Amino acid sequence: METNPTSPARFLPPLDSTTPERVAAQFGELRAQFDQDAGLATDENGWKALRDAWLGRKSGVLTRVTENWLKPAPPELKRAVGQALNVLKAHVEAALEERRAAIQAAADQAALARERKDLSLPGVVRPIGSRHPLRQTFEEIERIFLSLGYSVVAGPEMETPYYNFEALNIPEHHPARDNMDTFYMAAPFANGAQGKPSATSGQGKPSSASAQGKPDAAPLLLRTHTSPMQIRAMEKQPPPVRIIVPGKVYRRDNPDATHGFMFHQIEGLAVDTDITFCDFKGTVEYFVREFLGPKVKTRLRPSYFPFTEPSVEVDATCVFCGGKGCNVCKQSGWIELFGAGMVDPAVYGFVNYDAKKYSGFAFGLGVERLTQLKYNINDLQLYFQNDVRFLRQFA
Ligand code: FA5
Repeated sequence: METNPTSPARFLPPLDSTTPERVAAQFGELRAQFDQDAGLATDENGWKALRDAWLGRKSGVLTRVTENWLKPAPPELKRAVGQALNVLKAHVEAALEERRAAIQAAADQAALARERKDLSLPGVVRPIGSRHPLRQTFEEIERIFLSLGYSVVAGPEMETPYYNFEALNIPEHHPARDNMDTFYMAAPFANGAQGKPSATSGQGKPSSASAQGKPDAAPLLLRTHTSPMQIRAMEKQPPPVRIIVPGKVYRRDNPDATHGFMFHQIEGLAVDTDITFCDFKGTVEYFVREFLGPKVKTRLRPSYFPFTEPSVEVDATCVFCGGKGCNVCKQSGWIELFGAGMVDPAVYGFVNYDAKKYSGFAFGLGVERLTQLKYNINDLQLYFQNDVRFLRQFA
């Protein structure tokens, strides 16, 4: 605090009054001095110094006034000095409190101004990325089938040979297994309580005992298609069934522009009374039109899958040339889309459905290939290289 050179805090003159009026005048001067000192106390330290100078118990001005003015005052002035001292003390205390509150409020204001956040400043822009093109295809296909009353279910990527092959009417030595040869695992937990990996033969393929065994017999394999979920779903519930099954599948295929050792499929299955080939054809055509656009036409070509009869490949008019013929469709005007067919009655035998009462159809879509067609992507490997220049095009 700046000190006032004339302040009684430095030097208190003696009481030289001889009348009460003079006493009042001398206290008036003291009060004016205090007000002057108080005006100089503008921060917390200044305020403390002011308080100690005036109210300090040992040598504060008021203590000294008590000692030097009140105590030695002649009896006829004592009352006047005492009263004036009380009034001065009340004034000093009230003024100090007022000053303290004002200093505190000013400090609070300054702190607020210092800490205020400027909400008008532009924020840090963080790019949030976009959905992967395969994810977009999944969502689009799910949307189409949900609108037809299908539900979406998921199944295990590690399967037993029973679900992946046998229950789909593909016995152990069936040639259809050859192009689905895959990754087998002699997983210890596959044998349940016994905890032993079961014997495998040849190139890691299951022995006949385990392959022909019960649904949960070892060894396990990475599923080669999503079709095992047809069996699991039908085992779980009686007809009607209307499901699609999106998920990863694995094959021992060499990676190239149209093949991956891991890729995605969406299985579809509808089983009910009175489901005919017409329902199948109508559903397939509706899906292709919704997914590739209203101009695209479809055709069914005879094919073979052990678990559907009849089996077909669904072709669509080439999306790139509109069916006229180009390099992509090898001048045929058609592009192969996916495999499908009416569920083979033999499959119903594995899930205790009455094949005379129920019928249905199934299909298996390759998600990478459908996405390639839809967006004219010439290399399937691009999906998995995480190159933002590629991914950004689908934002
Ligand atoms: C099957 O996997 C059958 N489960 C499909 C099916 C389901 C038929 C229900 C009948 C009833 P396929 O092996 O053709 O079929 O594979 C289906 C689709 O997966 C192919 O049309 C293709 O789009 C895709 N696909 C197959 N192999 C690969 C691969 N290595 N990389 C990427 N996509 C592939």
